[in-house]
Amino acid sequence: MVCLSIEGRQVEAPANCSILQAFVHAGETLVEGVGCMGQGVCGSCRVMVRRSGEQEVKTELACETLIEDGMQVAFLDYFTASARHVYRIEDIRDSWQTLRAISEIFPEASHCRHCNGCDRACPKGLEVQRGVNLAVDGKLAASSEVFDECVMCNLCTLACPEHIRPNHLGLFVRRTIAALSLRPANLMRRLQQIESGEMKIDFDAPGAQPPR
Ligand code: SF4
Ligand code: SF4
Ligand code: FES
Repeated sequence: MVCLSIEGRQVEAPANCSILQAFVHAGETLVEGVGCMGQGVCGSCRVMVRRSGEQEVKTELACETLIEDGMQVAFLDYFTASARHVYRIEDIRDSWQTLRAISEIFPEASHCRHCNGCDRACPKGLEVQRGVNLAVDGKLAASSEVFDECVMCNLCTLACPEHIRPNHLGLFVRRTIAALSLRPANLMRRLQQIESGEMKIDFDAPGAQPPR
């Protein structure tokens, strides 16, 4: 058994458990801070982790991090940044506009001070700073690749002293590329099936509508 502290509570769980599994093993009920239940894709289970004998506090995903003896863990709530970047992707009609759009919608991005805060914060190990700098340089395809596995956990936004919101810039880049590219054939086919009635959608099914 491994002994650690989660949210200030001493917890024991079998080795090879993730932090999330250990939390459940300790009898806690997961009511927030979890979305994909351990698949590492929703970015909801942000935690601060300090390992035994280390001073540094790291940010990780609770469902992807294995427990260790003496580990201290605290969950990080979701937060909303005070300033939002507002845009309509439909307004970007051709790729000649993208460089100007980035400087107008994300003016802070060119102020990156190369502090590495976002890189250190990213639980997916993405080269976030490089992705930001590539976007500012107009190298959208390369920037998009950097953010390809971003799970929108927002930890880079939390870490950035320039309020750049790197993950939202990355999402903008990916949306722009998608909007200016040919649509994927399987998506077009599925939409055709829905429009023709070949595929039925039950809008009254449980969970089909967003909560009010
Ligand atoms: S780029 Fe930012 S939002 Fe995306 S996974 Fe890394 S820290 Fe999370
Ligand atoms: S945290 Fe912000 S300022 Fe620092 S390297 Fe990343 S994007 Fe640049
Ligand atoms: S629960 Fe979705 S990333 Fe951890």
